[in-house]
Amino acid sequence: MLSQNHLHVSLLYIVLLTGTKYGCGGGGCGACTVMVSKYDQLNNRVLHYTVNACLQPICTLHGAAVVTVEGIGSTKTKLHPVQERIAKAHGSQCGFCTPGMVMSMYTLLRNKPHPTMEDIREALGGNLCRCTGYRPIIDGFKTFCDVSNAFNLFPQASCLIQSTCLLTKMHMFSLLITSKHLFHMDNVLPLDPSQDLIFPPELMIMGKKRACGSLCFQGDRLKLISPVDLTNLLELKTEYPEAPVVVGNTTIGPNMQVKGVHHPLTIYLFVIYLLCVHVHAGVSMGAVCTLSSLKEEMERAVREMEAERTRGYQALLQTLRCLAGKQIRNMATIGGNILSANPKYDLNSVLAALDCTLQVMSKENGTRAITLNEELFTGFGKTVLRPDEVLLSIDIPYSKPWEFVSAFRQAQRREFAFSIVNAGMKVLFREGTNIVESLNIYYGGVGPTLVKVGRTCQKLVGRSWGEELLADACRLLEEEVELSDSAHGGKVEYRKTLTTSFFFKFYMQVLQELRERDVNVCLLPLEYLSALNVCLFPLQLVSNAQSSQDPVGHPMMHQAAFHQATGEAQYYDDIPAVQGELFVYMVTSTRAGSLFDCFWIAESREQARRAAQMVKVTYQDLLPVFFTIEEAIQHQSFFDPKRKLERGDMDKAFETVDQILEDEIYLGGQEHFYMETQGLIAVPKGENGELELFVASQHSAYTQEVVGITLGIDSNKITCHVRRLGGAFGGKVMKIASLSAITATAAVKTGRPVRCVLERGDDMLITSGRHPFLGKYKVGYNNDGTIMAADITYYSNGGCTLNESLAVSLLRALNSILCMTQWLSIPNLRGRGLVCKTYLPSYTAFRGFGGPQGLMVMESVLHEVAVKCGLPPQKVREINMYREEECYTHYKQLFSPRDMLRCWDECLDKAGYHDRLQAIQQFNTSNRWKKRGISAVPMKFGVGFSKGFFNQGAALVNIYKDGSVLVAHGGTEMGQGINTKALQIASHILKVPMSSIHIKETCTGNVPNAAPSAASFGTDAVGMAVKDACEKLMRRLKPFMENHPKYTWQQWVINQHPPDYNKVNMMGPHTDMDWENSEGPAYYYFTFGACCSEVEIDCLTGDHKNLRTDIVMDVGRSLNPAIDIGQIEGGFVQGIGLYTIEELQFSLEGVLMTRGPSQYKIPALCDVPPQFNVHLLANAQNPHAIYRSKGIGEPPVFLASTIFFAIKEAVAAARRERGLGDSFPLSSPATAERIRMACEDQFTEMAPSPEKGTFKPWSINI
Ligand SMILES: Cc1cc2nc3c(=O)[nH]c(=O)nc-3n(C[C@H](O)[C@H](O)[C@H](O)COP(=O)(O)OP(=O)(O)OC[C@H]3O[C@@H](n4cnc5c(N)ncnc54)[C@H](O)[C@@H]3O)c2cc1C
Ligand code: FES
Ligand code: FES
Repeated sequence: MLSQNHLHVSLLYIVLLTGTKYGCGGGGCGACTVMVSKYDQLNNRVLHYTVNACLQPICTLHGAAVVTVEGIGSTKTKLHPVQERIAKAHGSQCGFCTPGMVMSMYTLLRNKPHPTMEDIREALGGNLCRCTGYRPIIDGFKTFCDVSNAFNLFPQASCLIQSTCLLTKMHMFSLLITSKHLFHMDNVLPLDPSQDLIFPPELMIMGKKRACGSLCFQGDRLKLISPVDLTNLLELKTEYPEAPVVVGNTTIGPNMQVKGVHHPLTIYLFVIYLLCVHVHAGVSMGAVCTLSSLKEEMERAVREMEAERTRGYQALLQTLRCLAGKQIRNMATIGGNILSANPKYDLNSVLAALDCTLQVMSKENGTRAITLNEELFTGFGKTVLRPDEVLLSIDIPYSKPWEFVSAFRQAQRREFAFSIVNAGMKVLFREGTNIVESLNIYYGGVGPTLVKVGRTCQKLVGRSWGEELLADACRLLEEEVELSDSAHGGKVEYRKTLTTSFFFKFYMQVLQELRERDVNVCLLPLEYLSALNVCLFPLQLVSNAQSSQDPVGHPMMHQAAFHQATGEAQYYDDIPAVQGELFVYMVTSTRAGSLFDCFWIAESREQARRAAQMVKVTYQDLLPVFFTIEEAIQHQSFFDPKRKLERGDMDKAFETVDQILEDEIYLGGQEHFYMETQGLIAVPKGENGELELFVASQHSAYTQEVVGITLGIDSNKITCHVRRLGGAFGGKVMKIASLSAITATAAVKTGRPVRCVLERGDDMLITSGRHPFLGKYKVGYNNDGTIMAADITYYSNGGCTLNESLAVSLLRALNSILCMTQWLSIPNLRGRGLVCKTYLPSYTAFRGFGGPQGLMVMESVLHEVAVKCGLPPQKVREINMYREEECYTHYKQLFSPRDMLRCWDECLDKAGYHDRLQAIQQFNTSNRWKKRGISAVPMKFGVGFSKGFFNQGAALVNIYKDGSVLVAHGGTEMGQGINTKALQIASHILKVPMSSIHIKETCTGNVPNAAPSAASFGTDAVGMAVKDACEKLMRRLKPFMENHPKYTWQQWVINQHPPDYNKVNMMGPHTDMDWENSEGPAYYYFTFGACCSEVEIDCLTGDHKNLRTDIVMDVGRSLNPAIDIGQIEGGFVQGIGLYTIEELQFSLEGVLMTRGPSQYKIPALCDVPPQFNVHLLANAQNPHAIYRSKGIGEPPVFLASTIFFAIKEAVAAARRERGLGDSFPLSSPATAERIRMACEDQFTEMAPSPEKGTFKPWSINI
């Protein structure tokens, strides 16, 4: 008997191998992707498909073979070509997503050894990566394509418009060039399908035999029965009417695992009763068909049948292409999608519009047919099916000759996201005319169930398809779609607008088709057709004089990439359970501003989770509570220190300028969403109170200190070990220390090892992320665009405690004021930085800390000045740029802007900015509902902490008698390649190959008191320390080497006294900010760059597509161009999330509602610009840092603001056409909702904003 744990808990926790990762537990990230193989009795073949292990109950795998990443290759035996190529193409940074990526690609190749780029895009659509920006992953995998197939990455886009076709091809060209430079195909393993694992013969024999009995799995809390046939299923459903029928488990699974819903008995369907049959009136799909097989069937029908009969299927395909990721579509069934009765699920609106029929059956009443319409659904998650009934099949009719069908959906992210509103629409005309005979319109996402706008449809029957019908339809829709201002899910005006906008698209589409059939309909202005459209890395060359054995400056592969690609790389939660280990689980407060503190310790992960769910909390409320920056300003609730910087004579400047502008901009926060959630294992050693922590920390010395203070133990008895982190981005600097203190307390109190692994939702809730900002500004400028004075106050929401903000604010929190001018030379300037105290969890460091927000406020100021002056933003930028050879920042730090100006000029040139600007203007004139925008920004970003003592690195280099070298340093490897660069440096100085040098882990016992790996300074500090240590060792060896020039390295070191070969070194540049006098060297040096991006928006839905980005970045002389480009691309794509799609929603009560990948969308593959060119500035130098390189971790995030401003330009173009002003508010992120509502038109006018105070909003801007 399996324990209850093993019944519904997924495959993920059963596989005691380390490659299959936990990222979210709800099917939303793909980190747990494995391949399942099953014998398909009907077609006598073996099916291979990917699933999310986290949603795959272990007992449902009876008769199936599972292949995890460990099964396909290993560093100990032989790598699989997929593992090798992702590693060599630099597609693995932190490595946490890598096994999932590998398994998605491996499974694709099992089914199709010569895939197209579209196949790859589809296979990886359900895998998220937070580090790489996806380009190198695609780069590695595209080498499996036939060259003839390679020019087809984004085929939907490429068939839209000619210019996009061109972009697509150019993109592939860039990728080909990249591959050529970054890795070589001549020394990679060929794909040899004959080496693949075979399907186990015993399972084949078992699969061929007809099942002879039902299966029953009994646990202590759960029972799962799988019926042997339909009769058995109906009997079971009669006996246990309340038991859900589980098929794909993609609705039931997340409900049980994430929401804690308990089903004591479930009936699991193994057998595919009815797949798909073509009947005379359409296709009948078995209810248990997966969405992947539905898609294949629809594609086949569209391919093989005349277009007229398959219009409905084409519409279904439109939806299926964007619905979830491949793994989910492989598991989820059509029946489950319908009967989940969730209006956000996409199929019901289309299937209802198509007049589909459900065949349901029960033991008592036999079969009956139910029409799929709004009456099927009686509430959220409820249908009219009787408890003893099961769904057998869905009949999807062929389309009739004069019938037109369309499906629409708009989500927060273009793909792999639940829709906000979806719709299915079908119209039938009297033959040869434009007279409507029948009309079906269904919406999902505008109420708790599917909505049919029956009155509207009825009133339009008999009418001609023309402008009058359109006007009436919109009015009727406005009346019929009821959505209260306080509706669940919020976004009320947007959702209402989408209902009419979708209809307008449908209207246009049908009009166009009628015209093609020579029906006399009103003329369609050409520019209206836009409503219908769906929306080189030249590397630095090292000098010829440099030895080919010297790795510095070469694109070396990430040192652990092979281990990451095979799943052998260990993260903290991969450490096997220790004897007697306990598990700790956090109980979080559900009420803001209440006193409450609790955690639960239990024998297992599952037990701890269940116990924590049962905790009943009594709250002691503290009043009043508030959450927003606005409220904090009202209450004057701020943390100290409050910072101010001032230069020039503000009052005088404001008196003399031509114009003064006052306004504000709001920027939402951002969740780190590192793929590995926070946690640790605390192991008490039993002797002298010693304690070992295996912890996911960017700052192990701080964790050690906090645990020591909490428990009253000296630091010398606490050892923190950090092997690697599955991403961190600033989020694992400080909060992990509190978590460690709790876990260590539990370990010390019980005397047993204790493990703590935050679930994704808890991680998002507890650890918080980037500070939301409000920038209020007053700016004085002259009519020619010269900015003479700027007075800016930055309010950041710090949350409820200062503990984090204090430490971090001293270091970087007020980065926003320091960054405020960046490339702008403004003679009179005042910047104030206030951290608001509210009742939210406290905010923390995140890549660029304060910088991306501070820079964004200044760019917005500039944008507005340009609009007011009637000048292009580029012109205003150039007028106000630092230009002299020697310049001083507003805090009087000397720098030279030369390389910044070079980046700027080169970027505009490489992007063809001026020519494209003209092309865009032309595009906008001829497209009314699609607009494009382009924007370019330069960047100057300070590197290092503004408190000098944090700018230090430490390293210990041991040379052993056998000649091998061990490097230990105080930095943390979290994907940024710090270990690879440290090895390169050590190899360069010691002149031994990198393979003879090893880095084991970061350990407070080896390198004490290390600074955090943060502020883009980790490699600078650690690199310098490694260099210094190695140089000192070499100096000692030198006399002996000179005396014995013919000896080998091993002979040199063996003849020296071993203890001499250990060295710890600390290096640290001096930086210090004098806030009293507004001056000081705040940063060690500046990293420069420039970026240009172009986007296209859909004015009717708010959807946007990133078309092209060009970046020129000054990284000095890169230590490792592959790693640096990886950081630039990864940072940029994270910035795309920050400025466009990542939206955190808080309830009025201050509760975070977006707690997982289902609600919170980080960029996926579909968000990466098809043409994405990153150039490193040639001949750049940096005298201040290791080998003249520059820190690069944080700066690229801000460059994605070009996407935001390009969107703003596109919206402005739409508004200009409607006679509206160019000046309009747009908060960050520029979500689909904000874009749509900013493109004001007749449809948005139908959904006016309700007056404040007359309703309860769903969420608040904190
Ligand atoms: C990460 C993620 C992303 C997703 N994205 C999307 C998306 O973008 N768009 C979208 O539309 N959907 C999306 N989904 C939802 C997914 O499509 C549905 O969960 C899925 O179709 C349900 O099918 P299932 O077989 O997994 O159902 P299960 O979870 O197995 O069952 C769901 C319900 O249906 C009932 N049921 C199923 N089959 C029968 C039957 N034959 N007879 C009687 N009752 C039955 C069950 O009893 C249960 O109540 C997503 C899901 C996840 C996890
Ligand atoms: S852990 Fe399974 S999809 Fe995220
Ligand atoms: S490498 Fe993809 S998440 Fe880190």
